[in-house]
Amino acid sequence: MEFNPLSPEVTANPFPYYTALRDEAPVLWLDPFQAFAVSRYADVDFALRHPEVFSSANFTEEALGDLNPVPDVPWILDMNPPDHTRVRKVANKGFTPRLVREQTAQVREIARALLAGLRRAPDADFVSTFSAPLPMIVIGEMLGVEPERREEFKTWSDHMVRATGRPTEEAERAALRDSLAGFRAYFEDLIERRRREPGPDLISALVRAEEESAKLTSIEILALCVLLLTAGNETTTNLIGNAVLALFAHPDAMERVRADREQVPALVEEVLRYDSPVQIVPRVTAEDVELEGGKIPAGQRVFLLLGSANRDERKYPEPDRFDLDRNARDHLAFGFGTHRCLGAPLARLEAAVGLETLLFEAPRFAPTTDTVEPIASVIVRGPRALPIRFEDG
Ligand code: HEM
Repeated sequence: MEFNPLSPEVTANPFPYYTALRDEAPVLWLDPFQAFAVSRYADVDFALRHPEVFSSANFTEEALGDLNPVPDVPWILDMNPPDHTRVRKVANKGFTPRLVREQTAQVREIARALLAGLRRAPDADFVSTFSAPLPMIVIGEMLGVEPERREEFKTWSDHMVRATGRPTEEAERAALRDSLAGFRAYFEDLIERRRREPGPDLISALVRAEEESAKLTSIEILALCVLLLTAGNETTTNLIGNAVLALFAHPDAMERVRADREQVPALVEEVLRYDSPVQIVPRVTAEDVELEGGKIPAGQRVFLLLGSANRDERKYPEPDRFDLDRNARDHLAFGFGTHRCLGAPLARLEAAVGLETLLFEAPRFAPTTDTVEPIASVIVRGPRALPIRFEDG
């Protein structure tokens, strides 16, 4: 059996291919990628729970290559315990549930401003006008980027996303390298300033945590800040975009949520399972291992197919049914264990507030096209653009 996660048929709709993989080849060698694909929930879950066997390595190298603006230190995603434990402890202090909850009013204000812009434009693209800027502005505010640098910050965030698409054209690569060098310089300076003059922002919280435990260097904080953008923006954008697509495809769910806003968290959770924004996380085997679905020798690259695990019929009955009552809190959309998504509470908050604003503070809306093109990526899944029109427009 063959499986090419980059082929247009697969990116358009990977789910039938995942079903075949889980049934016929749950651990499959992908020659063009020189990696094994693991597709069953039990096996993906096992791998995430055993970082000593499924080691994290080179995520950043794979995603960015020489466009990484902070190649000096490994990024938290690529670290293994005990180094990972040290950095993660500091990072957790910047993302306490309280700090995230405190963002609610701010997120709502940002979502309302974006909605106003979306309503002004006929046939507006929901992605570029709403779901992409939302997490970018939120994280910029959390990091304490000054209002006059916001536009530049959005450009840098955008360039990080473009860099993860591994562009091949040299002129574009050079332009991105240049821009991201400016991004790095700005953050180096911001971290030093917050050290001298702390404020209520996330960088100050990280600097404080660092000083308390005296264990992280400025460059490690820098790498963390850059990762917050890379890991948090496109993923959250796709969660919100995939939620709107799911509502369009399931009018009964749309009506149910519109009738009861208490359903919004269930909607967000089911979208995470049903159409996971991150489809694949990579690992490397540290030793020979035997999974339910087959054997993998030591030293091999492995793709853990989160998007497939979350549709495994061995775990979820009728997995292809979008079901607001499913309450699948154990889905793997945010990973699990050691590297479990640091930003999960923030992503959930942004998606819930963003969707509430759209569903309850504007007239009804509909897509203006039947064909939605997915982002061409092995890793993330979401609509590239999503033109919509409000019924009063
Ligand atoms: C729906 C949105 C999101 C999804 C689906 C998502 C998904 C993931 C996944 C699957 C991982 C685990 C990677 C692995 O095991 O190798 C991860 C890690 C991470 N995520 Fe998210 N993420 C989202 C939003 C965010 C946001 C908003 C932030 C921060 C602003 C963020 C920051 C991080 C960081 C720092 C890590 C690395 C944690 C570690 O290595 O210990 N993510 N995310």
